[in-house]
This record gives sequence, C-alpha cells and structure tokens, in this order.
Amino acid sequence: MKDDDNLTTERPTFVTHLECAMQGDHYPADQVHNLSKAGKPLLVRYDLAGIKKALSKEALAIRPADMWRYREMLPVRKCEDIASLGEVMTPLIHLPRLSKKLSSGEILVKDEGRLPTGSFKARGLVMAVSMGKALGISHMAMPTNGNAGAALAAYATRCGIKTTVFCPADTPEVNVSEIEVQGATVYRVNGLIDDCGKIVAEGKAKVGWFDTSTLKEPYRIEGKKTMGLELAEQLGWDVPDVIFYPTGGGTGMIGMWKAFAELEAIGFIGARRPRMVAVQAAGCAPMVQAFENGTEHARRWDDAQTIASGIRVPQAIGDFLVLRAVRESKGFAIAVTDEKISAALDEVAREEGLLLCPEGAATYAAYQQSLADGRVSKSDRALLFNCATGLKYPLPRVARALDRLQPIDYARF
Ligand SMILES: Cc1ncc(COP(=O)(O)O)c(C=O)c1O
Repeated sequence: MKDDDNLTTERPTFVTHLECAMQGDHYPADQVHNLSKAGKPLLVRYDLAGIKKALSKEALAIRPADMWRYREMLPVRKCEDIASLGEVMTPLIHLPRLSKKLSSGEILVKDEGRLPTGSFKARGLVMAVSMGKALGISHMAMPTNGNAGAALAAYATRCGIKTTVFCPADTPEVNVSEIEVQGATVYRVNGLIDDCGKIVAEGKAKVGWFDTSTLKEPYRIEGKKTMGLELAEQLGWDVPDVIFYPTGGGTGMIGMWKAFAELEAIGFIGARRPRMVAVQAAGCAPMVQAFENGTEHARRWDDAQTIASGIRVPQAIGDFLVLRAVRESKGFAIAVTDEKISAALDEVAREEGLLLCPEGAATYAAYQQSLADGRVSKSDRALLFNCATGLKYPLPRVARALDRLQPIDYARF
C-alpha cells in the first residue's frame, strides 16, 4: 500500500449531524458552526452502524500508520481538503526502569512530541483547518498558550487561509516565533488565554474572522479523538487501566472519551474503560477544585501561574465535559506543584532518556503522587501523555568545559 494511501484514496464518510453537548439539539453537517444556541460545544455525530459495516480491524491494520487511517470515523469528506503535514501514529514508550524503581505496574508514555509542529495540537488543528478549507473559511483567529497557535499557523498556511493569533505575553519564545515563521500574524497580549479569547470573540463580528478557540469550533475534538482510537489499536483493541492527561481546555480528554464510546458502538472494544485522570498544575487547577467540590462546572481560577504553560487555562468552556469523563470513568482530578513537575522532568530524562515537556512531566508527577496515596494500584497499567516535544522548552545550560590546549586529565572521566 502507498505511503500516502490514507490521504489519496477516497473513502466513505459517515457524519450525520452535529449535536449540542449540553442540550442534545441537532445542527446540520457541512455548514460553518461555532457554539450551539445554548452557547455550548458541538459534538460531531456519525452513522455508527454504517461505520460498523464499512470498517474492519483487518482493513485498518494494513493502512499506513498515520491518524488518517481512521477516515471513516473522521469528518473530512474529500481527500483534496486534507491539510496534512504527516500526522504519524505516535509511539507508546515503556518506562521499565521507573516502574521497577516505584515497584509499580507498567508505565507507558504516548509521545505526542513526534507530530508535526512538535505537539498533539497538530491532531486537532489539522482537522479544524481541513474542515475550514472544506467549508470555505478564509480567515481563522485563535487565542493560544503556544502550541495550538503553532499548529494552526502551519496548517492554515498550507491551505492559503489567513491566520491571526493572540497569546499571553509570557508564552514560550519558541512558540511565538514558530507561529509567526509559519505564516500567521501573532500578537502578545498582557493577559491570560481567556483574555486573548475575548479579543477573538469580539473580532468575530468586527473583522469577520472565524473563531477557532478550543471547543468553540467543533472539529478539534475529532482530531484529538484519534489519540483514543490509536492507543486502543496499539494495545490490541484494549484500553489501559488509567490515563493521565494534562488538562487545559480538555479537548483531548473529551475526544478520547468520545473515541472509546464510538469504538464500543462499532464493536472494536468492549465496555471496559480506563479511569480518566485530569492532571493540572497547583497554580491553575479549576477542574480539580470543581471535581473535589462535586460541581458540574468549574469556577475561573484567578492569578493562574505555572511553568506548564499549556495547562495554564483559568476557565474552560468544556469544563462539564471533562468532569463528566472523569466521573463516568471513576477517575479523578489531581494537581501537582511546579517543583514536582520539574523534578519529574529531570527524573524521566535521566532514568529513561525520554525528554518530556513540562505538561507531560506533570502527568508523571501526578502518577507518582497517585501511586503513593493509593489512588492508583501497583498492578494498574498506566498511560501518560507527553503532549509536546521537550525540545521546545528552555533547558538548563551546561557549564562544564574543557580547554583542549591544556593537558587533559583522563582520570576524571
Ligand atoms: C503542551 C500542552 N499540553 C497540554 C495542553 C492542554 O491540552 P487540552 O486543551 O487538550 O487540555 C496544551 C494546550 O495548550 C499544551 O500545549
């Protein structure tokens, strides 16, 4: 089979309509949408019985290993609209030394840093931009903590779509630069991501751009859903016991939960579900607070601060969907301090040779904490998400040097 078969072979599509995630009212497919009438996210619905007839595990197994192998379960209808940069299936990396050290069960890291633009935001944004192209959108705007803006810029540029991006002023430098270099116009804003979101929302009427904010656009969830499809296939159509997900807007959590339901409906997996754990930073933990208080929605987190900038999201429009996935799965929400995040990053790199991003390191810190307090058992198979390549973030400078003009003391090595 050709390498680009998933991108070039037309396959049947099964989207029937979109549905309000809160009220359940329906909206037509193949039209531009943001939120539902109730101001809530829209979910894409499929003819699952049709997919069940059209798709087999065997047919999937021989397709090229990228996220487009699941085309029947995705919303893009025509090959010509796919804005791909090579969205490879990301590997599951075992951490055997650390599980031995902790006397724990198997620890797997789904390493999303291998994707185009170096983060899992590529999954959501390739879908949003491909659908934007299919629906004739010419200008997309977005608030971002960095990685999502970079992915939007890359894919939109590929499709000739104009892009305007707003990020907090202290967003990692590499993110601000990559957004601009990849063809978008980026502005630093003296505020947090939700302040940037207000600018995008106001500009919708005034400029006419499309608001591509997390969950105000229906297709990013479908892209992130492929994380759940992929990991189930990689585990032989099974699920791990527990998934630790670094939660900002929560698109990936919501997407994976939707993936498992759809996989069960088409007969690919059974009723067993992983416990879904929302990992947040202690300096910005609205979901953890809501989970502990037993509320359906989360209150805005004031003065949000953390080194894990991707999860510095004080308020999320899909809060109720994240909390629903966590509760229905009998999972939990957990906060970790920046000190623990840094220590986790160091430990995984030193012991296993795997350089995580701070948000990914937060999941390992949360795993350790949950093992220690008994919320995860020593026999659980745990899956952690490394959502971006560690190479995007500032690393400590090494001062050690050698003067080659002086005699070298080889005894020191
Ligand atoms: C590296 C990283 N991790 C995690 C997240 C949070 O992802 P989600 O919006 O799916 O919760 C982000 C979002 O910006 C991110 O950039």
